[in-house]
Amino acid sequence: MNLNKSASAHIPVLLEETIRALAVQPGGRYIDCTLGGGGHATAILEHSSPGGQLLGIDTDPEAIKAAKARLETYSSSILLVTENFVNLQAICIKYDFFPVHGILFDLGLSSLQLNGNGRGFSFQHDAPLDMRLSPSQKVTAADIVNTYSESELAHLIKTYGEEGYSHRIARHIAQERPIETTLHLVRTIERVIGSRRGRIHPATKTFQALRIAVNHELENLEAALKQAINLLGFEGRLVVISYHSLEDRIVKQLMQRESKGCICPPGTPTCVCQHTPSLRLINKKVITPSPSEIQLNPRSRSAKLRAAERIINQDEHYKVAENLYFFNETGNWKKPALLKKLKIIFSMA
Ligand SMILES: C[S@@+](CC[C@H](N)C(=O)[O-])C[C@H]1O[C@@H](n2cnc3c(N)ncnc32)[C@H](O)[C@@H]1O
Repeated sequence: MNLNKSASAHIPVLLEETIRALAVQPGGRYIDCTLGGGGHATAILEHSSPGGQLLGIDTDPEAIKAAKARLETYSSSILLVTENFVNLQAICIKYDFFPVHGILFDLGLSSLQLNGNGRGFSFQHDAPLDMRLSPSQKVTAADIVNTYSESELAHLIKTYGEEGYSHRIARHIAQERPIETTLHLVRTIERVIGSRRGRIHPATKTFQALRIAVNHELENLEAALKQAINLLGFEGRLVVISYHSLEDRIVKQLMQRESKGCICPPGTPTCVCQHTPSLRLINKKVITPSPSEIQLNPRSRSAKLRAAERIINQDEHYKVAENLYFFNETGNWKKPALLKKLKIIFSMA
């Protein structure tokens, strides 16, 4: 595997571990829900050749443009869509792309977004306080900073940034606004907690909190993971790389819950939940980058990879197909012929 092929743009994190966890095989069908610079996608296509197919999703049109150029040699094997992964199931139904052998989420931002391209994600470059992953979104970070009450801001910075100084930062922001640029916000935070703070920049947590809020990151992740499970065929793999504890908690809790039989509260005398596992955990312990990867790519240092495999029993094949069908019944995807096909595919998986 060529780790450094197009590394100048965005170095894919835990690349070999991802390909192994996805168990990529020739002729397989895969979904990359966070296409970014196309680094993981390139490796998936390399390893699934001949005959592999990839559906690449990113909500950022700039990312899709960059990935399209990078994946040109695979143009007959890829389908790239500018969409939010919160609509994963609808996207797969629209393009008739399921069941699949593997689904990847590599969360967070790509280097393209971070490297000061004027979108306000980085506290190291001055830019308008925007932070929207997609230009189609309405609310920017500046809207939040300048319109939330002081207590709403403190709550947001504490909840999504896990910032111990949330109240003091919120008070200073409220006194200082309007704040329209990243550096203005950074200076405001530095006045509260100084310009150095151990290994991390003092604005890191506040910026994380704003980005999560602007892009509804946690809600979207939780919703998309649930949809992803239904799209996996027999023994299909779900692989998620997260970069902070709030994301990782969602992934860990969902995978653990879905890999259990009974999920009744502890102490319940007899099971009433009738929950059946839909996943089997691949790695009981989270996978993290090696010291040499961190040295090569410091952005990887907080990465955590979790992987699970789909378990499907015979009865469930039909349930899955019906779920997918009814999911979109309110939209324009009423396709009885497709449902019939799905039932056949799922029952043969
Ligand atoms: C860390 S980058 C992925 C990098 C990619 N794996 C690579 O190797 O080049 C994460 C990407 O996910 C995209 N993203 C984040 N949230 C998204 C969402 N809800 N829907 C679709 N794309 C999303 C971002 O725009 C960004 O391009």
